[in-house]
Amino acid sequence: MFETRITKLFNIKYPIIAGGMHLLSRAELVAAVSNAGGLGILASTTFATKEELRQEIRKTQNLTDKPFGVNLNLFPMMRPRSVDEDINIFIDEGVEIIESSGASPEPYMLRLKEAGIKIIHKVPAVRFARKAETVGVDAVAIVGFECAGHPGMDDVTSLILVPLTVDTLKIPVVAGGGFYDARSFVAALALGADGVVMGTRFVATHECVAHRKVKEWLVKAQETETVLINRSIGLPMRVIKNKPAEKALEMDKRGASLEELLTIIRGELGRKAWIEGDTEAGVVSIGMVVGRIQEIVSVKDVIYGIVEEAKSICECLNHKKS
Ligand SMILES: Cc1cc2nc3c(=O)[nH]c(=O)nc-3n(C[C@H](O)[C@H](O)[C@H](O)COP(=O)(O)O)c2cc1C
Repeated sequence: MFETRITKLFNIKYPIIAGGMHLLSRAELVAAVSNAGGLGILASTTFATKEELRQEIRKTQNLTDKPFGVNLNLFPMMRPRSVDEDINIFIDEGVEIIESSGASPEPYMLRLKEAGIKIIHKVPAVRFARKAETVGVDAVAIVGFECAGHPGMDDVTSLILVPLTVDTLKIPVVAGGGFYDARSFVAALALGADGVVMGTRFVATHECVAHRKVKEWLVKAQETETVLINRSIGLPMRVIKNKPAEKALEMDKRGASLEELLTIIRGELGRKAWIEGDTEAGVVSIGMVVGRIQEIVSVKDVIYGIVEEAKSICECLNHKKS
């Protein structure tokens, strides 16, 4: 059940993708998702050196014999090295799936395709989805305003973006931003998507390396406790409300530059928050769906829980119909 164009494209059991998450999507989480029948995505930006990235890909390959992908964040500010250097490593190490984001993958399509790599490109607007299809990606993930990471400048929610994208494209579409459980999974399929991509939900798992204090903070957080920072540089990012987020908001209001914002949003401060548990050290990206997190569970419980309950929901809906 729940076979879609995405399960066929990526050769996975369930159309549930754990989107790449900077600092958090490491081998253990990625392999756990893939071993449970979903698609785990390693976050390549986490690794400062080429050797670290190479070793983490190998570690993931040792932990799972199931398909997994690697996130290729194309936004220059997020990159520890050139895109070509990362692509060389992906090809050398036999990576089969790439989740690209942050800018059009067009300049790299030929190399990736020649290497037989499948590409799912993540976008926050229908116009970018159309462009991605034109340049030859295999699938698109469309993320709405609710999402963690970068929801774009248009402020349009998943409920609107998903069906619009599905109606516009011929290639498979995955829905992201606010998806959490069986109810939202079935809703995504009902909207015409071929699967879901979730980030926030997978942060709240045992296999995620986020510090215990951060996970406990997320369990308590409400759906109203995220804000969008970095609008002044045209790259909005949804983060949980804390002091650094408030400072970044103030900076945005006066049209701060990237250099100024970096004093608050730079990577090592985020690492201090996520990994060392110093929750006021830096900004912490999280989606509105944080308001639904009740407890920390295993990746297996997330995926099997969604699939099992989704089956009953479908039966129940079917029953209602007759
Ligand atoms: C902590 C965190 C870090 C993220 N880092 C990245 C990233 O490096 N690249 C990327 O394409 N998406 C990133 N995302 C976005 C996720 O891959 C996914 O698209 C998003 O979380 C989906 O929305 P949701 O959180 O509402 O499920 C990140 C999300 C989180 C929560």
